[in-house]
Amino acid sequence: MANVKINPEGKVAFVSGSNRGIGKAIVIELLERGAKKVYAGARNTASLEELQNKYGERLEPVTLDVTDDQSIQAATAKVENLDILVNNAGIFAAGGIFSENANSSLQTNLDVNLWGVIKLSNAVADKIKQPKETAIINISSVAGLGNMPMAATYSVSKAAVHSLTQGMRAELVNDNTLVMGVYPGPIDTDMARDIPMQKDSPENVAKNIVQGLENGSDDVFPDVMSKDIGAAYASNPKGIEQQFGTFVAQ
Ligand SMILES: NC(=O)c1ccc[n+]([C@@H]2O[C@H](COP(=O)([O-])OP(=O)(O)OC[C@H]3O[C@@H](n4cnc5c(N)ncnc54)[C@H](OP(=O)(O)O)[C@@H]3O)[C@@H](O)[C@H]2O)c1
Repeated sequence: MANVKINPEGKVAFVSGSNRGIGKAIVIELLERGAKKVYAGARNTASLEELQNKYGERLEPVTLDVTDDQSIQAATAKVENLDILVNNAGIFAAGGIFSENANSSLQTNLDVNLWGVIKLSNAVADKIKQPKETAIINISSVAGLGNMPMAATYSVSKAAVHSLTQGMRAELVNDNTLVMGVYPGPIDTDMARDIPMQKDSPENVAKNIVQGLENGSDDVFPDVMSKDIGAAYASNPKGIEQQFGTFVAQ
């Protein structure tokens, strides 16, 4: 285990999907906790205007579509002295394994949620693999720990993020890099707008992620529901599979 603990003060971070939802809250939390600079990745940088007005030069907008190789290269080429990468950009395309849109929904979910993380991480790998302490934070989901049938192909993509996070951690074990997996439950963002469940706030998620950085946590369950799921998963992963299957089928 890397045993790296990172205080955001004075650090440089890169956050994908930073213009709304959890990504925006992470940007704000990092800057409020004293980060020197945050590269804010967004498909449309005009959507970062409010953040830019508030934080000035400490917020550097970068155009980033994680499904576009050229966009990734251009967005990361200008990054200097990176300490913290946050792979947050994500999409939810509904679809079951046997549904008519199985192929298209799986493709969409994997393109953004899996390949986006792999490609962006590789694009900054030389900046992360440094003698100094660094961190990669990957936003998975509780749906990555047990498949939710109504969101089956999304669950597949988030399980892949869980696995690639473990792989990154193993590969970087001697590189002073904290590799953190984050497993949120339902959070009050556009993505979860139609989910009729009690939701925690993106601000709370962001606070717990930054706390995880400071604690050097491998796994962060950043909200009320995910804390329970995390504890249950640790003792009985089969129980989570059964709970998610039953819950979503109702
Ligand atoms: N909300 C939840 O309940 C929940 C639970 C568990 C995990 N998560 C995960 O948390 C992360 C953030 O989700 P959220 O709830 O904040 O969702 P959100 O409000 O829908 O925001 C998604 C963000 O990802 C960006 N994005 C989507 N496709 C992209 C692409 N191809 N390239 C670059 N950016 C792209 C969006 O940019 P645009 O504005 O350009 O679309 C937006 O900034 C995701 O990985 C999600 O899977 C969310």
